[in-house]
Amino acid sequence: MAPLRPVSELASIIERHTKTIEDALKGTPAADFSLAFGAPPQAQVPPSLEATRSELVETIDELRARILGPLGNLMVTLLPTPALIAILHTMYAFDIASHVPLQPGAEITYADLAQRCGLTEDDTRHIVQAAVAFRIFEEVTPEVSVRHNAASAALATAMKDLLGLFIEDQCSGVYKLVESLKRFPGSGEPGHSASVLAFREAKAIKEGKVVDQEITDPSKSFFDYISEDEKRVARFRSAMGISTRSLAYRASYFTDNLPWADKNQCPESIADIGGAGGEVCQAILRAYPNVKKAYVLDLPEVVADGKAPEDLEGKLEFESYNFLTETVTRKADVYVFRHIFHDWSDQYGAKILKNLVPALKKGSKIWISEVVLPDLSDRNHTKDQAQRCADILMKCGFNGKERSKRGWETLLAMADERLRLANVIRPDGAHDSVIEIVFDA
Ligand SMILES: C[S@@+](CC[C@H](N)C(=O)[O-])C[C@H]1O[C@@H](n2cnc3c(N)ncnc32)[C@H](O)[C@@H]1O
Repeated sequence: MAPLRPVSELASIIERHTKTIEDALKGTPAADFSLAFGAPPQAQVPPSLEATRSELVETIDELRARILGPLGNLMVTLLPTPALIAILHTMYAFDIASHVPLQPGAEITYADLAQRCGLTEDDTRHIVQAAVAFRIFEEVTPEVSVRHNAASAALATAMKDLLGLFIEDQCSGVYKLVESLKRFPGSGEPGHSASVLAFREAKAIKEGKVVDQEITDPSKSFFDYISEDEKRVARFRSAMGISTRSLAYRASYFTDNLPWADKNQCPESIADIGGAGGEVCQAILRAYPNVKKAYVLDLPEVVADGKAPEDLEGKLEFESYNFLTETVTRKADVYVFRHIFHDWSDQYGAKILKNLVPALKKGSKIWISEVVLPDLSDRNHTKDQAQRCADILMKCGFNGKERSKRGWETLLAMADERLRLANVIRPDGAHDSVIEIVFDA
């Protein structure tokens, strides 16, 4: 355990790091660190200051926890957990953020907002005021009117699908985890996951039936269930796209760390397996002009309306492919996976890799953008929280998991002994690592 530092020492680290970052951003729109409407949505710092920012956030978190004391700190976690689900779910279901005008400074009374959303004025006020307490919306006239800040505006626009995915698909599974663990201990089957139990129950209720307790096809996953609903597929694809642009998750942490600026190492063609809307391929094509062709391989319903943006026409293609049931026939110099293996247990992850092996030759590379869990650390709570929460949500959603370096090596060994974990890059500030795998035929 790291030695306990005096709280005043924490405060001086906070002051020093804050000043460093503030000075570096002076004269740019980001320097205000504002959360108001119109403020830059992402508080980006130069790459050289990512580590400083991470340490700053971690130190703020430690200082707050220690100043509150053990129980005070526990309570600030416990109390908001169920309340936030209620607040965000109501906001999403009644589309509250979209009914607040998006013009700069425009406000709306709770009475008008209630009418637009189909809620009572009192309920609207309570939900929105609770959101304001979490820095979502700004109250203009106490008890009377409200307007957007940058966060609520994002929930009305760019972040809306991500909110929907979290609050509907993820949350429904969360309550079923205990049932899943009791009924199917140790199962790596996606159809035994908490979210699938929730889906089956919700479907039975909707159809006025009693849920069938027997799961006849445990390989049927979250993705199979959502494929029955076009809107849900579109929402999932859009939410994944959003995640490629979100602060710690942005795809540039991956693309910037590929060694492809060196022409000799740059592939001419890549295939992104499970590539959804193609955001990662687009980023790669724009960053590395020597990559001439990128293929997005995903389920038929996901790639059905995949389209290359104008500047990448002829360079980006979408192809239907099922990584569990088909071997890869699309030839490419390099294969890329982002956020795929954490959706699956080792037995299924190994299947995905086995289906790729026939397309590989000696020295072929696979690049993966995904978490590599570090050992827990006293100086890394905020990042541990994000990565360990993702781990639990993968369990709830898919019977999947995030993996440590050893976990990745176990997966590769299960798939094919010729697959070797060659390198792991952990970019400062990034949620995911960049994982290089080589096929040693
Ligand atoms: C967590 S998302 C990641 C999407 C994208 N790689 C990204 O990083 O934004 C998982 C992707 O795997 C795809 N997928 C799920 N099951 C699949 C299967 N059996 N074959 C091919 N793709 C599948 C989903 O459609 C989805 O696009």
